[in-house]
Amino acid sequence: MAARAIQRVLNSPLLRREAYVGGLWTTSKDRQTFDVRNPSNRETICSVPDMTSEDVAMAIEKAYDVRKDWGGLLAKERCGIVRRWYEKVVEKHEELAYILTAEQGKPLNEARVEVSYAASFIEWFSEEGKRTFGDTIPTHAHNKRLMTIKQPVGVTALITPWNFPLAMITRKAAAALAAGCPVVVKPAEDTPLSALALANLAEEAGFPSGVYNTVTCSKDRVDSVGRELALSDKVAALSFTGSTVVGKLLMNLCSGSVKRISLELGGNAPFIVFDNADVEMAVSGAVAAKFRNTGQTCVSPNRFYVQEGIHDEFCRRLKESIECLIVNDGFADGAQQGPLINESAIEKVRRHVDDAVQKGAHVLCGAVPGPLGGSFYLPTLLTNVNSTMVMTSEETFGPIVGVAKFKTEEEAVAAANQTRYGLSGYIYSQSPSQIWRIAEALECGIVGVNEGLLSTEFAPFGGYKESGLGREGSKYGIEEYLEIKYICMGNV
Ligand code: SIN
Repeated sequence: MAARAIQRVLNSPLLRREAYVGGLWTTSKDRQTFDVRNPSNRETICSVPDMTSEDVAMAIEKAYDVRKDWGGLLAKERCGIVRRWYEKVVEKHEELAYILTAEQGKPLNEARVEVSYAASFIEWFSEEGKRTFGDTIPTHAHNKRLMTIKQPVGVTALITPWNFPLAMITRKAAAALAAGCPVVVKPAEDTPLSALALANLAEEAGFPSGVYNTVTCSKDRVDSVGRELALSDKVAALSFTGSTVVGKLLMNLCSGSVKRISLELGGNAPFIVFDNADVEMAVSGAVAAKFRNTGQTCVSPNRFYVQEGIHDEFCRRLKESIECLIVNDGFADGAQQGPLINESAIEKVRRHVDDAVQKGAHVLCGAVPGPLGGSFYLPTLLTNVNSTMVMTSEETFGPIVGVAKFKTEEEAVAAANQTRYGLSGYIYSQSPSQIWRIAEALECGIVGVNEGLLSTEFAPFGGYKESGLGREGSKYGIEEYLEIKYICMGNV
């Protein structure tokens, strides 16, 4: 099954082995390439261009040359092309899902969900792009009239992660394009094929040359390529999803040209279950939130706090649910948990579990490699977790649940906020007043109340504290790519 699926990917017309710059499919100037691997078995799928900073400068130049034309189109014209991109993505739904599973590893059904999720952002912003209204402002002087209009910021660099290789591009790119900004997309080195497939569909949708560009590069060149995008004064805005460490670095680099910057960085989400919670709801929410994409999600709960009265029952039922999860190659029938993305992801998971166990955590299930070895790790449940353990301060990004018991609401809130991160948090409670108290007290940008799956194009996605800057999706997401211009008409 897996071998046939990979063959299907290799035969797909959407599988591109070149980068897309200025409306042309291109190699890197020095013709270097790097291998894209299947995380399930580390076998090479194919190679793509390992572009240099000069190649990227060229892509920026192409985007810069067309920024006035693209920004000058009527919103209806621009959004019509964005809408065609959406239709192409929907048309090629299954092809995209196969490419995604091949290079990212997530189970095919989950890949299908991601394609729909990715498409939803394109559809959303093809509509929002027509609604970038300005204001008329009450005047402060009889002979003056005040108003605002919104204008595209200009060329936008988008640096995207490997965990949602389609959706994290479309959430940024569709907003930027609809706002009138040409884009240079730099996908993660683990997952360039999904990005190139999206570029292929963007070309078919009819974006004018230079408006949509995708540059690929290996880990060895990511530093110089990232610098080029962040330092170029032809790039007006940069949006990044990835680690907080890299986000801070990019923020520093962008300060030189005072670029607009949007950052969607790491999380360390608390998942709080109170004694009065519906335990079944809490368990199914925990599984849905934690094991989405095998735990490799920024909004994945990373610290579970469960009140003492419900603790044992919650853990017993959670263990039963976790043990039912099917771990397998993403193309295998019924697979629910795929491989982790690469060796360093597995190393991190092992380090977190070993550290917790050494410091007194109890293993209820898992804590060993998966049946296929390599990048697979069994879904794991640990109890007796405490704040001295690395897994409570670092984001694990893997299929590990670590539960700590608490007594009082105050104790839970203090523990939940005891972090420099603030992307998301989860509360399970049946008390409306408690829900409001905790939802308001949590220092994070997204709160799930009796719900484990929160992401949608309709709602703003983004974090407090070191989890980022700005919001993606929703009516707010397009603002990241717009300037507000105030116009004062005098002598009226
Ligand atoms: C992420 O993990 O960065 C994004 C997850 C989501 O959009 O739900």
